[in-house]
Amino acid sequence: MFTVAPARTLAPATHRSPRNGVSIALFGLGHVGSAVAGLALEPPRAARWPFRITGALVRDVHRPRPTGNAVARTSAGDSLLDPAPDVIVEALGGLEPARTLVLKAIERRIPVVTANKSLLAVHGDEVFAAAAATGTPLRYEAAVLAGVPFLGTFARRRIAASFPSFCGVVNGTTNFILTEMAASRSYSEALADAQRRGFAEPDPSNDVLGIDAAQKLAILIRHFAQCSVRADAIEATGIAGLWARDLHHAAAFGGAIKPVVAAAWDGVEVTAFAGPAFVPSSHALARIDGVQNAILLRGAPGGDLLFAGPGAGPLPTAATILDDVVEAIEDVETRTMDGGIPDVRAARPEAPVTGWFIRLTGAALAAGPDISGLLGAHGVRLRRASEEEVHDGRTAQWLTAYPCERRRLETALCALGAATGCDAFCVRELT
Ligand code: NDP
Ligand code: HSE
Repeated sequence: MFTVAPARTLAPATHRSPRNGVSIALFGLGHVGSAVAGLALEPPRAARWPFRITGALVRDVHRPRPTGNAVARTSAGDSLLDPAPDVIVEALGGLEPARTLVLKAIERRIPVVTANKSLLAVHGDEVFAAAAATGTPLRYEAAVLAGVPFLGTFARRRIAASFPSFCGVVNGTTNFILTEMAASRSYSEALADAQRRGFAEPDPSNDVLGIDAAQKLAILIRHFAQCSVRADAIEATGIAGLWARDLHHAAAFGGAIKPVVAAAWDGVEVTAFAGPAFVPSSHALARIDGVQNAILLRGAPGGDLLFAGPGAGPLPTAATILDDVVEAIEDVETRTMDGGIPDVRAARPEAPVTGWFIRLTGAALAAGPDISGLLGAHGVRLRRASEEEVHDGRTAQWLTAYPCERRRLETALCALGAATGCDAFCVRELT
């Protein structure tokens, strides 16, 4: 059952005012860590205090870094916890040693700022429980919509945050790749560019397989629905199965294919999915292109809320992280950004009834079979259909279908496959 997290008694807020600057131990000096160091060493004028980097944990201490020798490097993470810095910034990625070091910092009550969605999605229960038990600030604004500060806002605004569903584009790399492919660039060129620009995960398969999006979705569900779902239990699909022609036909049908996430909860169950979807041009997410991300919070007391901005990239992420550092020091109202230990639940796939974007492939298409009739016999009504095209020796045709249950569509496409030998690739329509 759904339980609202119990109120916790917090120790009084510290409201520190570090005269000699905020000392930061940096775990990771890659794309994000280097940008944090660069911004900390030359902060914008508006920054309230100077920052001081006490050192950075890296794998390779000899490799040259964008910050030159301004930041001391070490491969011994523990050494950065003693003497204790004011804050640690974890920008390592992955599960270990990030988990162990973050837990050690929390045990010593050193405030933690992390951008690591994998850590929070997989070990969130443990890490949040440790932070709550010790009253240690734990901030993770950059873990979702890296350059768009919105999670912390909602942590302090519970009325605005009482909404039952959201949808969004939360992975910058895949949105960038699909936008580039729609402009005739190849998948591999676009992925290489996303890596060069520092958008992609240390292991980019996390982006393209939908794992990063599912992890962010699990964090969002924890934050807003106050329940814990396992990221690997969320239905997640990557973008690898998409063709450039899919993007072309989606545009011709009046929309775009976007890497989306969606979730809804009703106090009993959570439904969620992450994967590419056909987004009609009238939808707020249809115009979120390139590395931009957005989240549409639906059904809040004051109406729907849309947040958008850079979803990845070293500098936007670094700016968010440094603001989190300041908030952790100021200890703004909440010590952690969410309220406590949430209920644990399973997530079910979302949207049993939805419209569909379908690509059929098969030699039989050239003979013009009665696809509308064959699908219609199973209750699937077609809305739009393209002409047949031949690509790489394969005949293909694109369709959209009116809303129907997923099971009905699957049954109809199986019957079509049996009658014609055609294969089908489908993505749902986002409403
Ligand atoms: P990088 O791969 O560029 O950087 C990782 C850094 O961590 C490197 O400096 C690496 O050392 C160090 N590191 C990794 N593993 C170890 C280890 N076992 N021991 C010591 N040092 C280690 O990744 P990013 O900077 O792109 O991403 C870092 C984190 O930020 C990830 O959690 C990512 O999800 C998150 N994030 C990234 C965003 C982006 O736009 N890139 C946006 C929002 C969040 P070395 O340099 O020696 O290899
Ligand atoms: N690889 C991630 C993305 C980084 O592309 O969205 C930001 O979390």
